[in-house]
Amino acid sequence: SLQAVIFDLDGVIADTAVVHRAAWEQLAHDIGAPFDEHIAERMKGVDRRGSLEILLERAPHAYSEREKRVLEDRKNSYYVAQIECFGPDQLLRGARSAVESVRDAGLRTGLASASRNAPLLLDRLGIAELFDYVVDASRITHSKPHPEIFLAAATGLGVAPETCLGVEDAAAGVDSILAAGMRAVGVGDATVLARAEDILVGIEAFDIQRYISGQPNDRE
Ligand code: BG6
Ligand code: MG
Repeated sequence: SLQAVIFDLDGVIADTAVVHRAAWEQLAHDIGAPFDEHIAERMKGVDRRGSLEILLERAPHAYSEREKRVLEDRKNSYYVAQIECFGPDQLLRGARSAVESVRDAGLRTGLASASRNAPLLLDRLGIAELFDYVVDASRITHSKPHPEIFLAAATGLGVAPETCLGVEDAAAGVDSILAAGMRAVGVGDATVLARAEDILVGIEAFDIQRYISGQPNDRE
């Protein structure tokens, strides 16, 4: 039976998917690399270096390791400049009550964010105390869609992966959840997140009772 729900942060709890995207788009512009919807979607949920590698696939020339670090730092400075003035208003609508509903149902709550800015963001949003366990992204070696981060969350919560439900807005995230042997709920675009057992238009629509009462939804 269901023991825990593990949430992604950017684009599920916090209104930051757009901020990451804008920062990458700015960097793409800086270096003369193309940027479009498809690239943006592929980058979602993927860690900093993985995202940079996607951007550089079509860059005008190759970059050394040292240059890549400079580019990552630049993107991060664009991102952090926005996050610094964040507060509880940047929580996505319904996010706090979704996490609280899991706790009220007697289940454990975890956070599996690939972002090294997650601790800063949780603090700014004022929701750090809602999670029983937060994965430290700096200790994860394999980016989503690898299952490592969701498995680390389950271990930290002290529960078996099969008893967990993961909630994600990115295709790479849904794949990570499924590869970890967990049930997956997608938040956002149904075509992108098609492998999830259930897809919500927003976290506001999250109803924990649907998943407790058992069987994965049959979607037509
Ligand atoms: C993920 C975001 O949560 O974190 C990605 O979906 C981002 O867009 C990744 O690239 C890494 O974030 P950071 O803050 O460590 O650069
Ligand atoms: Mg996300």
